Amino acid sequence: MYRWCSLATLLLGLVAGAWADYPGVGRPATQAELALWDSDIGPDLQRLPAARGSVLEGQAIYAAQCAACHGDDGRATEIFYALAGGVTAADVASGRVAGLQGAEPSEVSTFMLLPSLTTLLDYTARAMPFGAGGSLSTDEVFAVTAYLLHLAGVVDGDFVLDRSSAELAQQRLPNRNGFSTDHGLWPGAAAVDGGMGNGGIPEPDTVRCMADCDP
Ligand code: HEC
Repeated sequence: MYRWCSLATLLLGLVAGAWADYPGVGRPATQAELALWDSDIGPDLQRLPAARGSVLEGQAIYAAQCAACHGDDGRATEIFYALAGGVTAADVASGRVAGLQGAEPSEVSTFMLLPSLTTLLDYTARAMPFGAGGSLSTDEVFAVTAYLLHLAGVVDGDFVLDRSSAELAQQRLPNRNGFSTDHGLWPGAAAVDGGMGNGGIPEPDTVRCMADCDP
């Protein structure tokens, strides 16, 4: 249901390439076939499905299908992953998680890192509950995500996640401003030239050493 486009784009590119290079091999994908792959939902939230789920509905789903592994409050069991925790109201306001700055963080949770809501929706839809990925309906995915947002202090208890409210949640994600595309790993022109990269300048601010280097 949710899927990042990169793999599909790559495969379609390969098919298109083979068609161009080897006449008689393969055929162009039909619009219907393209539509099957064209299910990506970007962080701009433009293509969110018309689903809805409330914090309250999500709480019941979480208790039944998630808490055993992720803990009653989302702060992990001894074995499994912490989903919430480690973020403050100040982080929600600034979009940068203070606990990630400087020294080693004392804890790491999903919401300390997450830059975009669609990543959480996508992952939950495809992979959770662990071992039964894909079993939640889209409304259930929205509901349990709404509850996680509430556990993390991002939204109030009466929040309902749907297409129209998703932007609000996105704008309150604690680490929404914690990621940069201003480095050489991101392709394309620099931001000043309308791109998302930095023109290819490597990120590490170091001087190359080829001989007699410091250990
Ligand atoms: C049987 C144990 C189990 C259950 C039940 C479970 N999870 Fe998970 N969850 C995991 C494990 C293990 C991982 C890490 C998987 C990995 O890294 O491949 C994980 C990872 C996640 C992540 C990604 C965390 C991150 O930041 O990378 C999210 C979000 C999540 N689970 C949500 C849920 C939700 C929502 C439910 C209930 C619908 C749920 N999980 C039920 C075991 C479980």
